[in-house]
Amino acid sequence: MKELEQLDKVVDVLDDELNQVDDLNVLQQKKASYLGKKGIIAQVMANMKDLTIEARKELGMRSNKIKQILEERFEQKKQAIENAIIDQRLKNESLDVTLPGVQFPTGGIHPLNQTIMDLEDLYIGMGYKVAEGPEIETDEYCFEKLNLPKGHPARDMQDTFYINPELLLRSQTSPVQVRTMLEEQGKPIKIVCPGKVYRRDADDATHSHQFMQFEGLVLGKDISLADLKGALLEMARKMFDKDREIRLRPSFFPFTEPSVEVDVSCGMCGGKGCNTCKQSGWIEILGAGMVNDNVLRMCGYNPEEIQGFAFGIGIERITMLKYRIDDIRNFYTNDVRFLNQFKEVK
Ligand code: PHE
Repeated sequence: MKELEQLDKVVDVLDDELNQVDDLNVLQQKKASYLGKKGIIAQVMANMKDLTIEARKELGMRSNKIKQILEERFEQKKQAIENAIIDQRLKNESLDVTLPGVQFPTGGIHPLNQTIMDLEDLYIGMGYKVAEGPEIETDEYCFEKLNLPKGHPARDMQDTFYINPELLLRSQTSPVQVRTMLEEQGKPIKIVCPGKVYRRDADDATHSHQFMQFEGLVLGKDISLADLKGALLEMARKMFDKDREIRLRPSFFPFTEPSVEVDVSCGMCGGKGCNTCKQSGWIEILGAGMVNDNVLRMCGYNPEEIQGFAFGIGIERITMLKYRIDDIRNFYTNDVRFLNQFKEVK
């Protein structure tokens, strides 16, 4: 009977065809083409009415068997496709937690800013306020009110960039003292003023035409040089290490009397003498003194009632000493190899 032969072949043909299928829709269509009303099985059975009863019976049994096999094959294939889809999805969505993460480049705090932040932190902790002033200053505030009238020889200490005879790029942060005194009108003051200053210096390893200072001013009753020494010793120990000593040497600034230059004991040799400190055991870090009576008077203070001290720290200088940097130009040339070294500096 040719119908039986046809049925027997169907399973083999289907197996070959199913190997090509990997899509559920295609599988659905395929199933209809075999088991649907007009499918291959139905077509084979269409001629049943022409067969003998015996043959019909046999064909009927065989076709039920084959249908069952086909159903199983389709079901298996459906499962296989669904599993493959799930596998693929898991693969796509899986996360390998052992892979190294992506490194995003980050910036760091510039060492000079770090020094300013450290100093501000220290002085704010001692009750100081932070004051700021403009970088373009008047001759009056930068010099005259600081006891440096026009033509005074001590003006030569600071070679200044003038914009016109009355306006200049400030050569020191001391005019912020003047501004604050004029604003406070005789009241006690405790301020620090960080900021950029400019001088007509040729740039080299230790000079820069633009650098930064950190000025301090304390005015009140009975303020003495001992208070100044205390404020600076704290600073030296915070910025360098707790064993540092400082010493005050007599010096001259027109706006302070007496004036001192302040040295910190050398951290390289512990004070014994080495190349860094030129065998002296001490390194100069700043200028300071008791505010000159003339300055107090010019800025509206009565020296009989109120005295005080001022100091001016070179930010680059102490940053260079702290991190052992030997060329000031490193701070201003933006070489990332230099700057990257300070990323972790706290
Ligand atoms: N302004 C001075 C300078 O730049 C430093 C200084 C500040 C000295 C305050 C005494 C008091 O040289």
